[in-house]
Amino acid sequence: MHVLLFLLILVLVLPLHAKETLILSHNQDRSTAAHKAMDYMAKHLYDATNGDVTIKIYPNSQLGNQRESMELMLLGAIDMVKSNAADLESFAPAYGAFNLPYLFNNSVHYQKTTDGEIGQQILLASEKKGFIGLTYYDAGARSFYTNKIIKTPADLAGLKIRVQPSASAIKMVTLLGALPTPLSYSELYTALQQSVVDGAENNIMALTKARHGEVSKIYTLDEHTMIPDVILMSSRSLNKLTNQQQSQLKAAAKASSIYMRKLWAMDVLKEEKKAKSMGVTFNQVDKKLFKKAVKPMHDTALQHPIIGSYIKEIKQLAE
Ligand code: GCU
Repeated sequence: MHVLLFLLILVLVLPLHAKETLILSHNQDRSTAAHKAMDYMAKHLYDATNGDVTIKIYPNSQLGNQRESMELMLLGAIDMVKSNAADLESFAPAYGAFNLPYLFNNSVHYQKTTDGEIGQQILLASEKKGFIGLTYYDAGARSFYTNKIIKTPADLAGLKIRVQPSASAIKMVTLLGALPTPLSYSELYTALQQSVVDGAENNIMALTKARHGEVSKIYTLDEHTMIPDVILMSSRSLNKLTNQQQSQLKAAAKASSIYMRKLWAMDVLKEEKKAKSMGVTFNQVDKKLFKKAVKPMHDTALQHPIIGSYIKEIKQLAE
C-alpha cells in the first residue's frame, strides 16, 4: 500500500486525542469522605470526557506518604496528590496561612476563605513550582488526643505530640508547652500504640477511620486549627490534557468538593458516636489559654512577606 494512503487511513482510524490515565495518591482509607469524593470526581470526569480521561486512585499511602507522593508528582511519576495545607507549607509557603492556630472563628469563616478569592489565589500560588491546587476538601477542626486529661496548655507540658511535618504545627505545639514529634500519618497508629508519642492532633475521623481512638482515649476539643485538604496536580500532567479536558477536570474537582462537604457533615455526627462507643471521652475546654499561648504566631504571621496579606484579609472576612 502506498505509504501516504496508509498514513491517511491511520489518521482516520486513530481517535483524535489519546486516552489519558491520571494517577492520584492519598493517605486516607477508602471509607473516608475524602476518598469517596475523589471517586466521585473520577466518575464525573470519565463521563464528561466520554471515557477519554480516567483517574486511578491509590488510597492508604500505597504509593507513599503525602510528602513522598508530592515528590513523585514533582518528578512526573504520578499526576495528582491529595495533601493538606500543613504538609504543603514547605512546598508552597502560601498554604501556611491556613496553619495559623485560631485564625478562623468558625466553619462559616473558614468556608468563606476557601470558597472565595483568597482560597483561589492560594491554589494557584504554586504554579511556578510546577503544580497547582484544583480544589479544597474540608477536614474539620483539629484537636488534641491523648490518654491524659487536658484542661489547659499546662497539662500538655512534656507530652510528646505527633505533628505533621509543618513548621507551623511544630511552633504551635512548642508554644503550647508540649514536645512536637513530626511523623507521617501512616506511621502514627503504631507510634501511639508503642508510646513513641503520647498523643496527636487531628479531626474526629482520625479516631475512627484511622482507629487512633483504639489507643488514645481522650479527645480534647480545643479546636486549634482548621486545615483544608487539597487536591493537587502537576502542571506537566495538566498540560497533557486538552483545554476542554482541563475545564472538565476543574469542574469535576469542584463538584467533588461540594459533594465531599455533604458527606463530611453526615460523617461528623456518625463518627463522634462511633468514637464514643470505642471508649473515647470528648473533653470540652475553655480555649482562652490555648489562644493566648499561640498569640505570638499571629504577630509573626502578620509580618510575613508571603502570608501576611492573606492573614489580614482572612481576619477581615470574620463576621
Ligand atoms: C488529616 C488530613 C490528612 C493528613 C492528616 C495528618 O487527616 O486529612 O491529609 O495527612 O490529617 O494528620 O497527617
